[in-house]
Amino acid sequence: MPESYELSVNGKSCSVQAEGDTPLLYILRNDLKLKGARYGCGVGQCGACAVIMDGKDIFSCDTPLWAVAGKSITTVEGLGTRDKPHALQQAFIDEQAAQCGYCITGIIMAAKALLDRTAHPTDAEIDAALERHLCRCGTHNRIRRAIHRAAQALGEDQ
Ligand code: FES
Ligand code: FES
Repeated sequence: MPESYELSVNGKSCSVQAEGDTPLLYILRNDLKLKGARYGCGVGQCGACAVIMDGKDIFSCDTPLWAVAGKSITTVEGLGTRDKPHALQQAFIDEQAAQCGYCITGIIMAAKALLDRTAHPTDAEIDAALERHLCRCGTHNRIRRAIHRAAQALGEDQ
């Protein structure tokens, strides 16, 4: 039976009516019309649906709505805009890190959580953070370069 849940998404409070076991991904895409998090596998095995909850990257396809009530969610739409992209978004563009792009929003969210806890990650730390993210286009080297570039840009801003 649908119930009302309050959550914060990209800094805005919102109320949604849904079954408590509805995946957060469906709420974001279907109810809130935020299409940045993508449906890849639906079972927590690809990372395309990653978002940040209270500072930690999670897979939204296997996170039920009841578990995010009262939490703060950030999706890729909350990072930057077309006119003012976040340093990570700009770095991914500059390094041409996306091919088809399907995996990229999830990877950017994992990278954001990584840079928030480790300002200048090593290649090994980047690989560990992205271990569960699949990129079928194989742009891993460019993705790594983009994350290093963003880390540098964010460091220069401080
Ligand atoms: S769609 Fe969520 S991990 Fe694949
Ligand atoms: S850029 Fe195509 S799956 Fe990663």
